[in-house]
Amino acid sequence: MKKPYYITTPIYYVNASPHIGHAYTTVLCDTFARFHRFMGEETFYLTGTDEHGAKVEKAAREQGKDPKTYVDGIVPRFKDLWKLLGIEYDYFIRTTDENHQRTVQNILRDLEAKGDIYTSKYKGWYCVPCESFWTKLQLVDGKCPDCHREVQELEEENYFFKMAKYQTWLMDYIENHPGFVRPEIRRNEILGFLKEPLEDLCITRPRTRLGWGIDYPNSKDHVIYVWFDALINYVSAIGYTIDDKKFNRYWPVDAHMIGKDILRQHAVYWPIMLKAMGVEMPKMVLAHGWWTMGGAKVSKSRGNTVDPVELVKKYGIDAFRYFLLREVTLGLDGAFSEDLLAERYTSDLANDLGNLWFRLASMLGKYFEGKIPACAGDALLSSEKPNLVNLYHNVESAMLDYDPRSAVSYIWAAITRLNGAIEYNKPWVLAKDPAKREELARFLVMLGEWLAHTAVLLLPFLPHTAQQILERFKLKTDWTIENEDDFGALFLKAGTPVERGDALFPRLEEMK
Ligand code: MSP
Repeated sequence: MKKPYYITTPIYYVNASPHIGHAYTTVLCDTFARFHRFMGEETFYLTGTDEHGAKVEKAAREQGKDPKTYVDGIVPRFKDLWKLLGIEYDYFIRTTDENHQRTVQNILRDLEAKGDIYTSKYKGWYCVPCESFWTKLQLVDGKCPDCHREVQELEEENYFFKMAKYQTWLMDYIENHPGFVRPEIRRNEILGFLKEPLEDLCITRPRTRLGWGIDYPNSKDHVIYVWFDALINYVSAIGYTIDDKKFNRYWPVDAHMIGKDILRQHAVYWPIMLKAMGVEMPKMVLAHGWWTMGGAKVSKSRGNTVDPVELVKKYGIDAFRYFLLREVTLGLDGAFSEDLLAERYTSDLANDLGNLWFRLASMLGKYFEGKIPACAGDALLSSEKPNLVNLYHNVESAMLDYDPRSAVSYIWAAITRLNGAIEYNKPWVLAKDPAKREELARFLVMLGEWLAHTAVLLLPFLPHTAQQILERFKLKTDWTIENEDDFGALFLKAGTPVERGDALFPRLEEMK
């Protein structure tokens, strides 16, 4: 039996409300999860929240709350946004979950027993917002090289994970598995990073400095470093060290989707942790780029966040999803502006797809009493099947290659062709000639079939619009397409009443 498809988002810090960057990763994973379900595969889509660490503790303190009360108050904001965006995750993990904490401690006990952990004095310069230690050499003008803020000098006794001893192994692994870190530019970045000697990883913080974290096993004085805790969510969520049967059913993960800023943790720390644990490697670590505004990464600390809730309220869920999937190639950065979103909305959604539906439904209303006309379906199928099947394969292979932008572009190329076919065939002229009634019927059925197939293919990308179209055609909305024959069949039944309904994408000026 085929292993279920398993995909993860990073778990989000709960020190602020989610913004477009978080929504992007989550929408991407949702689209892949839906696509794999659509292909008939069992799918496990994991997301959640990263709730420990200094940043969260600080945010709680600023609001005069204890950290647990604070995080309990923020988590619903993430869950509500995912609900608003129609995200169908299978499990939401919180690092404050009892089982997660147990798994983290189990892993540490295991690594200790294997001799991969030791204690040592640690001296360095610490940046609180970045939660990073730096050596003196790494500081820039005495400040954090990442965020350029003040750092504090610290010396303390901590637990260390022997990461350095796995360096050569990791380099070889990445060299020999070209698809492991994607895209290529990120793979090269990691290979470049690994040319320098790797240091062991300090995996605890003294409780005196950081109170909000998982206890280090058998130590009252240390809590576990937030990244070490957080990465483990990918295996604790599926029962590692607690439910072997469940774990073996889902692992290895098919894709860890991440942003390029957290590549090192996922392509260096995490594989080495797994190797030390004796666990199989993830199939892929896939890094997307950043959404930027005015040339800078959208982020809370830069204060240039884009609120997905506002955008969804204004343009609708599917328009927001469409924009994220279509505007940038997965892996590259994308400049966000509401004007671009509005432009996509008007040109691709309202004009191309919305209009196509409107024209077809209007013509069926005018010429065939709002019903699918009868015509020689077999002949139609034999002429159109190769093209339909071709579209299906193009979309499928783009998705299997983690390129949703191309997948959506193939679908839009078909939509554009159909609008072109209306102009070319001029059904309104055919309608004037009673001798051409059969030809008119065939043309409208051909358009209808294409639009119904397009709607089916759009289910993983624009689920709500796709469902609306399918409902108007009186077709089911829960399709699985396992092979080209499933897709190459005729979907519409002669005589079915088709409901034109309201505009799928109302003109923006009408929405104001
Ligand atoms: N908690 C860690 C992840 C731990 S995973 C074991 C974390 N959280 S985060 O909330 O800061 O960021 C989560 C994700 O959002 C990252 O993948 C990050 O790249 C993504 N984004 C945050 N801002 C972004 C943009 N402006 N654009 C695109 N994605 C970016 O890191």
